Amino acid sequence: MLHGKKILIGVCGSIAAYKIAILIRLLIKQGAEVKIIMTNSALDFITPLTLSTLSRNPVLTQFQEEKTGEWNSHIDLGLWADLFLIAPASAKTISKMANGICDNLLLATYLSARCPVFVAPAMDVDMYQHASTKGNLEKLSSYGNHLVEAPYGELASGLSGEGRMTEPEDLLEILKEHFKKKDEFRGLSVLITAGPTHEKIDPVRFISNFSSGKMGYALADELAKRGATVNLVSGPTHLRLKQAKINRIQVSSAQDMYKVCLAFYEKTDIAIFSAAVADYRPSIPAEQKIKKSAGPLSIELVKNPDIAFELGQKKKNKQVNVGFALETDNEIRNATLKLKEKNLDFIVLNSMQDKGAGFSSETNKISILDETGLKKSFELKHKTLVAKDIVDFLSNRIHDS
Ligand code: PMT
Repeated sequence: MLHGKKILIGVCGSIAAYKIAILIRLLIKQGAEVKIIMTNSALDFITPLTLSTLSRNPVLTQFQEEKTGEWNSHIDLGLWADLFLIAPASAKTISKMANGICDNLLLATYLSARCPVFVAPAMDVDMYQHASTKGNLEKLSSYGNHLVEAPYGELASGLSGEGRMTEPEDLLEILKEHFKKKDEFRGLSVLITAGPTHEKIDPVRFISNFSSGKMGYALADELAKRGATVNLVSGPTHLRLKQAKINRIQVSSAQDMYKVCLAFYEKTDIAIFSAAVADYRPSIPAEQKIKKSAGPLSIELVKNPDIAFELGQKKKNKQVNVGFALETDNEIRNATLKLKEKNLDFIVLNSMQDKGAGFSSETNKISILDETGLKKSFELKHKTLVAKDIVDFLSNRIHDS
């Protein structure tokens, strides 16, 4: 799994730095190529000689080599790596990464890296529990980095708690699992709807909802990471794509979204409907701005196409359709009805009753239901992690069938 893979390791100042020597040996045994960057603080904990001997590559610490004047290009290092692991990641480096501070080779490489970045923190329990560290780790996760949570155990300070760096053997398994997952969806074409739709009332007004698109974009990112070809049909949002390889088609209204989805559907293997599509639109948008008048204003609404329903009717044997249900009451019952009506393979339920779930927030709390009933309920978590849970479920479903 790791044979020929190029692994870049960023080592920070922490007593756990000695564990990296063991990890490098394990990686080399698996046939990986390993390069190391150390921060100045890391030099106090382990020598570059040890790490360069084990990795069979020079260890880099500065932008410019003192003796030769040679430039260590952070850009080239970032492009070289298939994966960048920052371990042990100290509170200081985590904080700088979260805030775009770039005052050493490791941080400049982090900002330039296009490959997946894994962060394995190591610090004392109170530092790890501190709200600022937690906030920084959340930020890193929301940027698409992979966090390797620090497990509970005895710490160098003599205290016990969370903060130990994950053991080298476990880190190795996490990296192996990553490369296994990377190709899980290769060759599969995924269509994702995301965000709200805007239904025009007149040239300056529209009907819409509070969807930000975050859930759909997180799914697009996760599936692209795992090798899928992703067509993301997005309603109006301010979100940016994390990966250039995602094909985004921007639309405004439900009718536009429907047309684009229809055009893609025949060549789609998996369709995920995470958009909050307006069910109704003004029957005839006014050509000029509607003027204020003394009496009430009525606007006639007509039904929009139900994209999930229409594509459910066209679904062929091997295609998989995944829906969402945003509910305020009778959640399981309503979600089950939608699952059946729209001919979905499974449905992701989120409820406005749950604080931090649904529209706009960074987090979501979901349950997954299929034709056999409720399959799994998850805790409230960041939408990037929710996307991972949904994609894991999808992966089991398509690979087991
Ligand atoms: O965008 P965020 O701020 O991150 O918020 C995420 C979300 C709350 C929008 C998302 O998690 C979600 O629940 N999306 C579906 C919202 C919704 O419209 O649910 P619904 O229960 O009304 O629709 C059921 C399903 O039919 C959905 O898959 C929906 O995309 C689809 N549908 C609905 C109406 C319509 N005209 N066409 C559709 O395809």
